[in-house]
Amino acid sequence: MAESMLPAHVGIIMDGNGRWAKKRLQPRTLGHRAGAQNFRTITRYASKLGIKYLTVYAFSTENWSRPAEEVGALLRLFKDYLEEALRDFMEENIRVRFIGDVSAFPQELRKLIAEVEEASAPKTGMVLNLAMNYGGRAEILRGARAFAADVRAGLCQPEDLTEERFDRYLYTAGQPAPDLIIRPSGEQRVSNFLLWQCAYAEFVYFDILWPDFKPQDLDRALEIYRSRQRRFGGV
Ligand code: IPE
Ligand code: IPE
Ligand code: MG
Repeated sequence: MAESMLPAHVGIIMDGNGRWAKKRLQPRTLGHRAGAQNFRTITRYASKLGIKYLTVYAFSTENWSRPAEEVGALLRLFKDYLEEALRDFMEENIRVRFIGDVSAFPQELRKLIAEVEEASAPKTGMVLNLAMNYGGRAEILRGARAFAADVRAGLCQPEDLTEERFDRYLYTAGQPAPDLIIRPSGEQRVSNFLLWQCAYAEFVYFDILWPDFKPQDLDRALEIYRSRQRRFGGV
């Protein structure tokens, strides 16, 4: 595929882990483990393809409402995977960033998050945004508060706020908006993912559960993306 036909920024809503486990009569946490494993596979593949930005939705601001046992298992899994990611993605020249309110996570996990961000900061390859305790609405509110604080500090005026300027108050500041958002699992909804940024994203939905999503399915999504005609409101 010609490089120019590749979307610069791809978002993935990694959904369907629980149903994947249920189908196998296994606890949901086993599905999360399989999903985390697949996250590594797909991330490396995306990097190999030359995608510049990949944003993966790992934990939403609403996911805290799940049973404590499941949330606990997810947090442990994040810790294990971040440790591995540190080694793994470093070799692939991937820069890892976190989007979401990571201050809500336990101290040990926060420490690891800071380490991963710092260690991978000099990397020049694909930027991987890990959306953890991320919610699009929370992100927009956070940006609005930060802008209001700048106005109060006398740094700017309310009229100065443009779409371009507001972009700079988001976690994804400086990055292009997602061109393509993929959601496996069969659900066709956005579930609070990149609400501001997805204004003109192409959505591709698959009836595949995330742990079963293969590199070929990413190829398929890119093929579908290529066949779409983007108009951005024009003709
Ligand atoms: C996605 O899989 C992972 C997270 C939201 C953390 P789910 O856990 O939502 O799986 P389903 O949708 O219940 O199958
Ligand atoms: C979206 O999946 C969040 C993540 C994949 C992290 P959910 O399973 O939480 O979304 P809903 O509840 O089906 O909308
Ligand atoms: Mg789900």
